[in-house]
Amino acid sequence: MKFTYLTLFPQIMRCYFEDSILKRAIQKGLLQTEFVDFREFSKDSHKKVDRPKAGGGAGMLLTPQPIADAIKSVREKESWVIFTTPAGKRFNQKDAKRLALKKNIIFVSGRYEGFDERVVERYADEVFSIGDFVLTGGELASLVMSDAIARNIRGVLGNEESLVEESFEEGLLEAPAFTKPIEFEGSKIPSEFLKGNHAKITALKNSMALLRTRYYRP
Ligand code: ADE
Repeated sequence: MKFTYLTLFPQIMRCYFEDSILKRAIQKGLLQTEFVDFREFSKDSHKKVDRPKAGGGAGMLLTPQPIADAIKSVREKESWVIFTTPAGKRFNQKDAKRLALKKNIIFVSGRYEGFDERVVERYADEVFSIGDFVLTGGELASLVMSDAIARNIRGVLGNEESLVEESFEEGLLEAPAFTKPIEFEGSKIPSEFLKGNHAKITALKNSMALLRTRYYRP
């Protein structure tokens, strides 16, 4: 899988792949990354990439030409182009699993007040928001989605079982979990976890997952 990032700030994105699981995925050849500053594609004499909104309104908008030309320069036959904006479809775990099967995803990160709609209409395969809040730019949104997608690529996580029991897999949040010490600041691990009866532990986890989901996501 290759992730290609079109952004005005490649330097704030690169470092995310320089440690831990995603660094190892790159070393193992499971993941490749490319960072492209779409300002380089601006035909403006001052390399401008933003203009006031047509018809008025606060803030500046990204002009379509540099983004379109940057996409054309990196696009391959099987590329899948994702634009980031708070006005997009909400990204979820199902999307992460589905997109983990793609060959190349091009993430286009917005800035300012976003994109000229014509470049989205013409070039986006999907348009995602990572939640109902507004970031200063789409870089974090692109990284959040990349991270969620990458851990669903076969071989990226050491223990594939961790993909089975986690939140959202059964339509529920994952149950609370515990580790040693058995007693911490007066609270003990639920005794069932220490007795080794796996059927009982599973039943307990299921009811805790249900309760937690009811509490946080009624
Ligand atoms: N850009 C700014 N805010 C965003 C969000 N919530 N999701 C995706 N892209 C964004």
